[in-house]
Amino acid sequence: MAASEEHDSTAEAPETAMEEEETKTFKDLGVTDVLCEACDQLGWTKPTKIQIEAIPLALQGRDIIGLAETGSGKTGAFALPILNALLETPQRLFALVLTPTRELAFQISEQFEALGSSIGVQCAVIVGGIDSMSQSLALAKKPHIVIATPGRLIDHLENTKGFNLRALKYLVMDEADRILNMDFETEVDKILKVIPRDRKTFLFSATMTKKVQKLQRAALKNPVKCAVSSKYQTVEKLQQYYLFIPSKFKDTYLVYILNELAGNSFMIFCSTCNNTQRTALLLRNLGFTAIPLHGQMSQSKRLGSLNKFKAKARSILLATDVASRGLDIPHVDVVVNFDIPTHSKDYIHRVGRTARAGRSGKAITFVTQYDVELFQRIEHLIGKKLPAFPTQDDEVMMLTERVTEAQRFARMELREHGEKKKRSREDTGDNDDTEGAIGVRNKVAGGKMKKRKGR
Ligand SMILES: Nc1ncnc2c1ncn2[C@@H]1O[C@H](COP(=O)(O)OP(=O)(O)OP(=O)(O)O)[C@@H](O)[C@H]1O
Ligand SMILES: [Mg+2]
Repeated sequence: MAASEEHDSTAEAPETAMEEEETKTFKDLGVTDVLCEACDQLGWTKPTKIQIEAIPLALQGRDIIGLAETGSGKTGAFALPILNALLETPQRLFALVLTPTRELAFQISEQFEALGSSIGVQCAVIVGGIDSMSQSLALAKKPHIVIATPGRLIDHLENTKGFNLRALKYLVMDEADRILNMDFETEVDKILKVIPRDRKTFLFSATMTKKVQKLQRAALKNPVKCAVSSKYQTVEKLQQYYLFIPSKFKDTYLVYILNELAGNSFMIFCSTCNNTQRTALLLRNLGFTAIPLHGQMSQSKRLGSLNKFKAKARSILLATDVASRGLDIPHVDVVVNFDIPTHSKDYIHRVGRTARAGRSGKAITFVTQYDVELFQRIEHLIGKKLPAFPTQDDEVMMLTERVTEAQRFARMELREHGEKKKRSREDTGDNDDTEGAIGVRNKVAGGKMKKRKGR
């Protein structure tokens, strides 16, 4: 149990003895038969630790603060008790799940639907960047569960006639520390004002902050804290490395690593939309199947990218922190922090995109001459000294010429793509993916790159 100093007023769940944990089933936790069958169908043979801790307490009607490492089944830990309660007292607009990103909202909805398909649960995803009208229609049908990003939900609460959450029984904040950040503060306050005070509240995250304590005072009732990992823990089966390199060779080292670890699925994190796009173009110019995901893309493109990566049609997803939390893509083998995260906690979430649900995975963090302090902060936060990722520097340098050429084309494409986007802003919005943007390379290089690649 950890972090009790942060939550003095919070009760802590009693530790369950190891042997008991090993043999516990969903049924033992109090989950009703039809939902146990649903778990079985998903291949969930036994509950995870956070599920063992949180589900019985949630079924008793307690408010919960759940802290457990990435990929440990937190979604099931809040979804199962809600579905269980819904079965007992069926009601429309029963639960609201708030998430910080749109993609995560869709994923949580899929999880609710997978667990609740046999009981006919209806969900609505209410997020920005897509047609508001169809969302209003979905809300008019009064779904059981609403999964939303805060901003768009407020829009509907204020503007969609006939829609309110006055009968709500459950509120979940997934990635709660993020939801409680400054940038969502006004939205969250507004939402809290229009939902019943008499409800159950669940907060879940792999990292909790003192801000949660703030909310605890504002919205939780006598909560119990379920913390199965020590405060900020990365997963045991995750091999973490750093790579100390001069800033100007970052691209070259990235290409080296992608070659060295060829055959794997990668998530590569960059700090800005622009660098995400640029690096995707660069890698595509070198023949890698890379695809970007960032906040300057249209929502349909964002989902398109994610789905291509999920379906393994692309092996490299380049993303900003929009993809750092919650996304569950089991086949991710390697996470690369191409730009070091400025907030140390984001490190934990980013590297948590691999090594999920007991699998193994690798994380490599690029550290340039400018990043040493940030890196030390990360090591301090996770309480570990990381080893260096082994590289053959002479082999890396042999890549320089090709990478330099690809950088030049990427810059040109980025420029052309920017202009095209400006021209067609009112059009389809179809230009914000790298796939339509390889024209310049063909024009300029005239197949030169291809020949070189063949060597
Ligand atoms: N009891 C279980 N047995 C086996 N697999 C499970 C079980 N519960 C959940 N899973 C699977 O584990 C994976 C990770 O679950 P989930 O996305 O809920 O993790 P999380 O704890 O929310 O992680 P993050 O902090 O990254 O959001 C999912 O693919 C989910 O289907
Ligand atoms: Mg999660």
